[in-house]
Amino acid sequence: MEKELKIYFEAIESYAHLDETEKKLFDAARKIRETAYSEYSHFDVGCALLLENGEIITGSNQENAAYPSGLCAERTTIFWTSANFPNVKIKKLFVIGAPKDAVSSPPIPPCGACRQSILEYEAKQKEGIEIYFASLNGEIFKTKSIRDLLPFSFDSSFL
Ligand code: THU
Repeated sequence: MEKELKIYFEAIESYAHLDETEKKLFDAARKIRETAYSEYSHFDVGCALLLENGEIITGSNQENAAYPSGLCAERTTIFWTSANFPNVKIKKLFVIGAPKDAVSSPPIPPCGACRQSILEYEAKQKEGIEIYFASLNGEIFKTKSIRDLLPFSFDSSFL
């Protein structure tokens, strides 16, 4: 029997369609992207997340000569957040990625490993994290939960 799975996302046309908080997050992700240490891929990614206490936490991808030792922007940011604010809920996560010298780019979604890591904190806080992935020029895709980007997700309920 064939079955179908639907995922939901919103396509936001441009930066102008964001509210004030979303604009702040977009700007923060874009700015921290400049700190990416992308010595090997020259692909720069910035991440900004909003906590329920209003704080914005940012991070960028950090690469390593031993390639797998590097880490994506999303995990750099969310691991630091969990270490420093273990009991504060995460409301929104913005990610902006593009080759270092690009002037335009499509919206870049979080990689599989980052989706799995974000899911862990979503499950822990028992509340969805809104995910925004943006292009440099302001086209943005938004989901209400990482589960929309990770259908058939594996979590602790299976253990
Ligand atoms: N990267 C991220 O930071 N986030 C993603 O979701 C996809 C990939 C980084 C990892 C590596 O430093 C560079 O982009 C190229 O893969």
